[in-house]
Amino acid sequence: MSYSIVYSSKTGNTALLAQTVREYLGEGECLYFGPPSPQALNAQRIYVGFWTDKGTCDQQTAAFLSTLTSQEVFLFGTAGFGGDAAYFEKILELVRAELPESVSVAGSYMCQGKMPDSVRRRYEQMEDSPRKRLMLENFDRALAHPGAGDLEGLKDALGKVK
Ligand SMILES: Cc1cc2nc3c(=O)[nH]c(=O)nc-3n(C[C@H](O)[C@H](O)[C@H](O)COP(=O)(O)O)c2cc1C
Repeated sequence: MSYSIVYSSKTGNTALLAQTVREYLGEGECLYFGPPSPQALNAQRIYVGFWTDKGTCDQQTAAFLSTLTSQEVFLFGTAGFGGDAAYFEKILELVRAELPESVSVAGSYMCQGKMPDSVRRRYEQMEDSPRKRLMLENFDRALAHPGAGDLEGLKDALGKVK
């Protein structure tokens, strides 16, 4: 089956996932690999990678998803907050809502992605509170992601797609 890999990544986390998808699938039937572009649309299946912005996919990805017609998609993404499958599911639900009804979702995968130091500095400025401690803990946990385990999880999810 012909496929494209389209991804949006500001700081490299989602790009790492995209690269892993590319290596996993091999170059054979790959029509396009790169940022959202109409060139990707001719493939039967499109692997779409996004980073999480305000609880859903980034704008560039949302705009791309709305241009799909009858392709199948596999959604993959990274988010600064993680460790909670329900949180990822909530994000994916919002991302799926960007798709036209004629598009089917073949699979999906999300993992946590590290955030820039500037975010930690912003948290450090906050007044002491349980929330601040949680934010700092989450930030520090995110530094290890995406890690080898995340990339294995992605490959498992890819393997489940027929
Ligand atoms: C402007 C901005 C908004 C963000 N909003 C969220 C958010 O709502 N929820 C979340 O879990 N992570 C959020 N993040 C964290 C990123 O989604 C996360 O670090 C992601 O892995 C970045 O992917 P990239 O390296 O491919 O750009 C935000 C990051 C930025 C810069």
